[in-house]
Amino acid sequence: MTIQHPNFGALPDDRVIIFDTTLRDGEQSPGFSMNMQEKLRMAEALTDLGVDVIEAGFPIASQGDFECVRLIAEQIDGPVIAGLARANRADILRAAEAVAPAKRKRIHTFIGTSPLHMQYQLRMNEDQVLAAIADTVALARSHTDDVEWSAMDATRSDDDFLCRCIELAIKAGATTINLPDTVGYALPEDMARMFAMVRARVPGADGVVLSTHNHNDLGLAVANTLASVAAGVRQIECTINGIGERAGNASLEEVAMAIRTRRDAIGCRSGIVTENILKTSKLLSAITGFDVQPNKAIVGRNAFAHESGIHQDGILKNAATFEIMTPESVGWARTSLVMGKHSGRAAFRDKLRALGYGDVGDNQLNDAFRRFKDLADRKKVVYDEDIVALVDDEVMRDHDRIKFVSLDVHAGSKVKPNATLEIEVDGTLIETKSEGDGPVDAIFNAIRSAFPHEVVLRLYSVGAVTEGTDAQARVTVRLEEGGKLVDGQGADTDTLVASARAYLHALNKLLVKRTRSEPPEQLAASA
Ligand code: KIV
Ligand code: ZN
Repeated sequence: MTIQHPNFGALPDDRVIIFDTTLRDGEQSPGFSMNMQEKLRMAEALTDLGVDVIEAGFPIASQGDFECVRLIAEQIDGPVIAGLARANRADILRAAEAVAPAKRKRIHTFIGTSPLHMQYQLRMNEDQVLAAIADTVALARSHTDDVEWSAMDATRSDDDFLCRCIELAIKAGATTINLPDTVGYALPEDMARMFAMVRARVPGADGVVLSTHNHNDLGLAVANTLASVAAGVRQIECTINGIGERAGNASLEEVAMAIRTRRDAIGCRSGIVTENILKTSKLLSAITGFDVQPNKAIVGRNAFAHESGIHQDGILKNAATFEIMTPESVGWARTSLVMGKHSGRAAFRDKLRALGYGDVGDNQLNDAFRRFKDLADRKKVVYDEDIVALVDDEVMRDHDRIKFVSLDVHAGSKVKPNATLEIEVDGTLIETKSEGDGPVDAIFNAIRSAFPHEVVLRLYSVGAVTEGTDAQARVTVRLEEGGKLVDGQGADTDTLVASARAYLHALNKLLVKRTRSEPPEQLAASA
């Protein structure tokens, strides 16, 4: 039966809806918080990527979350904008208010349905949960025609009770029913069985969109997603680079490319513009400071690299020998440009495109080009990884409140280490000088004196972006404030400059965190 959906109209039988939750489930994982401008920028990239629904946040969680969802609802044209709400009146009204400006909007409300969640987290019995579903879905529906209801921990719920909940949610007006594997416990056959069971038993299930949402605790999130699609599910919840609570969510790029590459077996299509996958993945890495691992499917640096002689030989004769999809189909460009100090702006712009950064604005290009020239003066060969590190390090962070300007450090066996630092705080230049037990300690003291704050330094680590003694250093700094952890990264040929940048990156992230209250799934405990 063809589903009539309030925002998508008659949904073709072979079309899957891609629901992206990078800005909600993804963003609530430690170290991944984004400020308002970064979220808006990601939402624009997701729109270009062709996602159908953007879950923009959890509006009741904090004023900051509310404003992010509202801004995205005001500015983004195309995808449906969803706001998350627990099963209570205040959450739903707040979500309704946040998504109100969107041309196409959705309220996504959820409640735990497993015995464990009901007894220990919600402290509610079955009748209370059923009553909450009926009331809150109806309330959400009075604010928008597009309402998604989720059974949190569906995969550990009792079949009979789950079916009763779903039936009630549909009767109260839900148009999408999402059955998450919240704790990443299910196997692909469990997902297939659950959805087949629901389709067979719940009256009205064939008139709504069934949705799957999988966590990756056992590394099965993508497999579980595809098993759900095979069982008739028409909405996939996923995130860029698979970020999300604990081990993350199903990765959008893997799901989208499996659907495209194995259409013969899966028999569905999505609206994803796959050529934009890489640049969206890179934008997220740049904003959050977390790279994907080199062997990550689709977007990892080695995803299309062929090392062995036999493979290289095959690729040269016919790429299909060892490639099941082309690098270009996900946004990688083949390039032979070697960059050095004589390379010009046009070649640099081409290189950024080839590395998946898409069209960089003029101001950003100028900043990146200035840093590239500076790097090329200090380093014999500028590798792709160097350019990625410098673009991610500075250019993508133009919305940070605190910006690095300059650093002068004196250290050695005969002097007390001291650092003179210039930073810009909200546009005002501040210069400080501090001493420390070592040069890094002196730099961090200088930052603390320029921008007073109380945090605990939990980790300081140095790695190299490429090989060789002239390689750029990549420093990671982890800070803790009131139990909240953030990681910052910085890269430079000078390890001390990289250290200052990494500390400032972490500090900027902490400032974003301060504007937020507890993470959403923690809040669910008090639902
Ligand atoms: O994992 C989960 O159950 C969730 C719900 C809020 C949909 O993220
Ligand atoms: Zn989740």
